[in-house]
Amino acid sequence: MNTATPDIKRRRVFGRRLTRSLSPSLQNLHQTMLDKLQVPRALVEKKNLKPADIFEKPFNQFWFEIGFGNGVHLHDECVAHPDTAFIGAEPYINGMANFLKSMENQSHDNIRVWMDDAIVVLDSLADEVLDGIYILNPDPWPKKRHWKRRIVSTENVARFVRILKPGGKLVMTTDIDDLAEWMATHAINNPQLRWDANSPADWKNPPPGWNPTKYEKKGAAVGRQQSYLVFTKQT
Ligand SMILES: C[S@@+](CC[C@H](N)C(=O)[O-])C[C@H]1O[C@@H](n2cnc3c(N)ncnc32)[C@H](O)[C@@H]1O
Repeated sequence: MNTATPDIKRRRVFGRRLTRSLSPSLQNLHQTMLDKLQVPRALVEKKNLKPADIFEKPFNQFWFEIGFGNGVHLHDECVAHPDTAFIGAEPYINGMANFLKSMENQSHDNIRVWMDDAIVVLDSLADEVLDGIYILNPDPWPKKRHWKRRIVSTENVARFVRILKPGGKLVMTTDIDDLAEWMATHAINNPQLRWDANSPADWKNPPPGWNPTKYEKKGAAVGRQQSYLVFTKQT
């Protein structure tokens, strides 16, 4: 399926796009829901996008989840916070299909999705429009020659800061120690971000009301310690 239009500059997304074909019924549901819930490409191309423009109901809070995988966390957030609007980006087709299936019988008022590189939508957003960004268990790219593929980079942290409202949150997690250090260091190095943690307990324990991701649940089952790195954009 080619959902791209020639007007949106294509960036290379590293990683899996499809691991197995969708069953005909899942493919059907996936396409129907994607048609309804995908952020319109025409609005993305226009730039200066206000999140309020892509939802039918008014919302005061807008959160963005980058790389939601199968969308377990995003599903639980949408259900737990019906008064907050969420945008989720995930290029992995099976992940998107699983997420959309999980939302089949839920309200769709507060969710919109993007089945491609999150950066394309982030770059189309107007300044200071998001209350929070989740980057949960991003791909670690452990080989040094692949570090430039990591979603958390100096350039991307600047992108996140531009679109966060003053007081907005950048929430990053991982269970890989050197990736946690990498992500924390990149965020600390941005002068507009302040780390919320005052002690190790603050990053070793999930924030209140936390909904774990699928990856996080699997890691916890084998005793892996997750780091929860929460930063606030300075007002
Ligand atoms: C290790 S998985 C974690 C999935 C999920 N967050 C979890 O914790 O279960 C990382 C995900 O990020 C997605 N991803 C990688 N680069 C991305 C990008 N540029 N935009 C959106 N998603 C991306 C991948 O497709 C993959 O599903």
